[in-house]
Amino acid sequence: MASAVLLFLTVMLSPVCFGAPTKSLISVECQPAFGVAGQITKISCSFKKNFEGNQDIIITAGTVKRRGETDPVFWFQKDVMKGDHRFKPASKNDPSLLLTDAAVSDGGQYDYTVLTNRGIIEDGTFRISVTAKYSKPTMSSLQKEVEDGGTADFYCNSSGGYPAGTIHWFDSTNTNWTMSATLEVREREDQLLEMSSKLTFTSIDSSWAPFRCVVLNSKFVKEGEETFQPNIKVPGKSDSQSGGGGEFKLETKYVAPIVVIGSLIVGLLLVLLLRGRCKHPARRPSTVPILSDFRDAESGTAEDVTRALTEKNPTKEATEMMR
Ligand SMILES: *[C@@H]1O[C@H](CO)[C@@H](O)[C@H](O)[C@H]1NC(C)=O
Ligand SMILES: *[C@@H]1O[C@H](CO)[C@@H](O)[C@H](O)[C@H]1NC(C)=O
Repeated sequence: MASAVLLFLTVMLSPVCFGAPTKSLISVECQPAFGVAGQITKISCSFKKNFEGNQDIIITAGTVKRRGETDPVFWFQKDVMKGDHRFKPASKNDPSLLLTDAAVSDGGQYDYTVLTNRGIIEDGTFRISVTAKYSKPTMSSLQKEVEDGGTADFYCNSSGGYPAGTIHWFDSTNTNWTMSATLEVREREDQLLEMSSKLTFTSIDSSWAPFRCVVLNSKFVKEGEETFQPNIKVPGKSDSQSGGGGEFKLETKYVAPIVVIGSLIVGLLLVLLLRGRCKHPARRPSTVPILSDFRDAESGTAEDVTRALTEKNPTKEATEMMR
């Protein structure tokens, strides 16, 4: 029983075992090709010889098929080329290929068969990925005029890139506003993408302007940026308020000197008043100074004395008493 199974397995596996050494004698190996839209992309391939000897490999024909498709996109025999004219062999007896004017739609997996003087090589395979650069962004505002403290919606659009990237937002102080923005990515007819980021403010501050948007590709590498000065209307800024502000500034500028000079004057008046009081203690209603005043008026008449008395002690009673 066991021997029967062994015999069955040997019979089943034998074609594979015998076929393998001849197939692996030469193989073609290709690097993944990274192309840029509109440019020439080289698909680098080389032969791998698993045999001794220096015999050259001569390419006689080749076929490139998209994986999963039955018809080849490109094939050649000697110098005759058929199919997509953007493909061609890189050089004679070199399995590498060139693709001019690469497009995003060229991206994918390919199978490559080469016919040589050493036999047919069917194990060729390569991947093409095509990227495209995004255009310099254009910025705009949903509202023609934005009110300071009001709502605002700004756009930052960039197109012609691939694959999808992202857009970041910053204000004049470099504050990151990206969290307040929504990104929309649309595919164009040529498979390139259109990115539109909308930044929404519920209460905008005019001091945040101008705003800057940065376009990053799928690898988060900056591809472009733009700044935008929206038309923000500050209520009353152009007329009365700004003038009033100026006057207020003028006042505050002079407040300090006025206070200093004012207090100096008040201080000086106080000093003068106190000195005056020291010189004339007679102002107090006391008899002693009045006597000295009498002495002053000794040489004068009775009227002089009365005057001296009424002047120094000018109360109603005193005046009436003397009359
Ligand atoms: C940006 O895209 C938005 C949404 O598609 C559109 O409304 C706006 O007008 C575009 N702005 C510019 C400057 O193209
Ligand atoms: C800005 O914010 C976004 C979203 O949070 C983040 O991915 C990005 O790294 C930030 N950029 C900078 C320069 O801080």
